[in-house]
Amino acid sequence: MFFLTTAIDYTNGSPHIGHAYEKILADVLTRYRRLRGDEAYFLTGVDQHGQKVQQTAEKEGVDPATFVAEITERFTRLWETLGIEYDGWAATTDERHKSSVQTILSSLKAANQLYKKSHSGHYSVRQEQFLSDRDRNESGEFGPEWGEVVVIEEENWYFKLSEHTDWLKSYLEQTDDAVIPAFRKTELLNALERNPGTDLCISRPKARLHWGIELPFDSDFVTYVWFDALINYVSFAGYQAAPGSELPDFQKLWTANERPIHLIGKDILVPAHGIYWLCMLHAMGFADHEMPRLLVHGWWNIRGEKMSKSLGNIVDPKQLAENFGVNALRYYLMRDIVTGKDADFDPSRLVMLYNTELANELGNLCNRALNMTQRFTAGVLHRGGIPTEDDLALQKSLIETTGDYCRAMDDFNVAAALEAISRHVVHCNGYAERMKPWELNKNPENHARLASVLYHLAESVAHCAVLLAPVLPTAIEGLATQLNLPQLASLHLGDLRWGLIPDSHEIGKPAPVFPRIVTTEKE
Ligand code: MSP
Repeated sequence: MFFLTTAIDYTNGSPHIGHAYEKILADVLTRYRRLRGDEAYFLTGVDQHGQKVQQTAEKEGVDPATFVAEITERFTRLWETLGIEYDGWAATTDERHKSSVQTILSSLKAANQLYKKSHSGHYSVRQEQFLSDRDRNESGEFGPEWGEVVVIEEENWYFKLSEHTDWLKSYLEQTDDAVIPAFRKTELLNALERNPGTDLCISRPKARLHWGIELPFDSDFVTYVWFDALINYVSFAGYQAAPGSELPDFQKLWTANERPIHLIGKDILVPAHGIYWLCMLHAMGFADHEMPRLLVHGWWNIRGEKMSKSLGNIVDPKQLAENFGVNALRYYLMRDIVTGKDADFDPSRLVMLYNTELANELGNLCNRALNMTQRFTAGVLHRGGIPTEDDLALQKSLIETTGDYCRAMDDFNVAAALEAISRHVVHCNGYAERMKPWELNKNPENHARLASVLYHLAESVAHCAVLLAPVLPTAIEGLATQLNLPQLASLHLGDLRWGLIPDSHEIGKPAPVFPRIVTTEKE
C-alpha cells in the first residue's frame, strides 16, 4: 500500500498557490502509483485549531467554529476544481481526531513522557511558541519573522522530547530515505547538532487560548496546535480507532509494506516534522521501520521573494484556473519546479509551457495522428508492414521515454517525467515532418506506408495519453474518445507495449484537446 499524506493547511486564510502545488503533487503521485497498479491512499485536510485562528475569528467577529467551517469550504471547493482526489479528509475539529489526540496524550502521560512546570520567557504570538536566545538575530533582537514578542510566565505541560533526540540522530543517520531529498536530511541533522533538544511545551493555558483540544488530564489547558495537528497523520489513518469510526485499517495503511510518505514544505521540516513528530512517534512506541518518510518540497516564490500577505503578492489558484484552465495550471505547477527545490512562479511561463508543449507540440501530434487518419485513410488505422529505420527509432524513443518517465516518477520528480514525454512528442513531430504523410497521400502506391506512418503517430498519442494521465486526468478521456479506445483510461503501466491500437481500428472524431491560450500580453 502506498500511503501518502500532505501537510494539513491552516484555516486562517484563503488557499494560495503553495497549498495548491502541494495538493496537486500529492494527487499526481497517488494517481501515478495507481497507474503502476499499486493500491494507494491519499490523505489531506485542514489544521483548524490554534491562536492564529482564534485571533482572526475574533477580529472578524465570528466564533472560531463558524470561521474555520467557511475557510475549510474554500479549500474543499478548490480541491474539487483542481481535480484533486483524496481518499481521506483530516479536519482537526473532527471528534474522532480529538479523541485520538486525547488518547495519545493519556498514554504518553501514563508512560511518564509528560510533566508540568512553570516557565517564564519571551513568547512569539505569531509562531505560538516560547523563544530562546538562539532565536535572536545578529543584533540580539527577535526579528520580524516572530511578529509580536511578549514576556510571559505560565505553567504548562511538556513532552520529554530530549529523551528521544539521541535515537532520532542515529535513526536519521542510518535511514537513507528518512528525509527526501537527501540535502534536507543534512539540514535536519545540522539543526539537531546546533540545538540538541529541549523538551517541547505541548499545552496552552485556556485563559489565553480556548480554541484547541482540551488535555484529558488537566482541563485548564488545551493542546499546542502542532502537537494536535501532527497527530492527524495517524488519527485519520485509523490508529487505535474506535469500532464503527469509519476510519481506514491502520495496519493496512501504515504498517504493511511501504512506509508512509508525508509530503511537506521545507518550512515545516525543522522542527515540526523532522524533530517533534518523529520523536512523538518514537515515544508512542513506533519502531524505526514504522517511521514515515518525509518528502520535502520547495517553495514557489514571486520574483525571488516569499509570497506573503504583507507583500501583497499572494497568487490565487482559483483565479489562475479560471484564466488559464485547470490543465494548464496543473501542468505548469508540475513542470516548472524540481521536487525539493524552490521555483519562481511566473504566469508568462505557465502560458509559454502550456502553449509550447501541449497546445503546439502535443496538439500538432494529435492533429497529425487523428485528423490525417480521418482525411487520408477514412479514419482507419493499419499497422503496416515491416518497420523502417525511422519507425524503429520512434519505437525506441517511446521505450526510452517510458523508462525515463517511470524512473523520474519513482523519484518523485514529476518535472523530469513530463520532460521525457515532451521529448518523445518532439521526436514524433520530427518523424512526421520527415515522413510527410501529406505527400505520401498524393500517390495511391504509398498508401501502405502512409497507414504505417499514421499508426506510429497515433500509437504514440495513445501511450502519451496514459503517461500524462496522472498530471492531466481529464485529458486522457478526450484523447481516448478521439482514438476510440475507452480502455486507455484503465490501463496500467505494465500494459504499455507497442500495439495498443489494434490493426484496422477505426478512430473517433478528432477535436482539439489543448486549445492554445491567447493572451494580450507578450508571451
Ligand atoms: N498547518 C501547518 C501544517 C501542519 S501539518 C501537520 C501549515 N499549514 S500552512 O497552511 O501554512 O502550509 C501548508 C503547506 O503549504 C505546507 O507544507 C507549506 O510548506 C506549504 N506552502 C506554504 N507556502 C508555500 C509556497 N509558497 N510554496 C509551496 N508550498 C508552500 O504549515
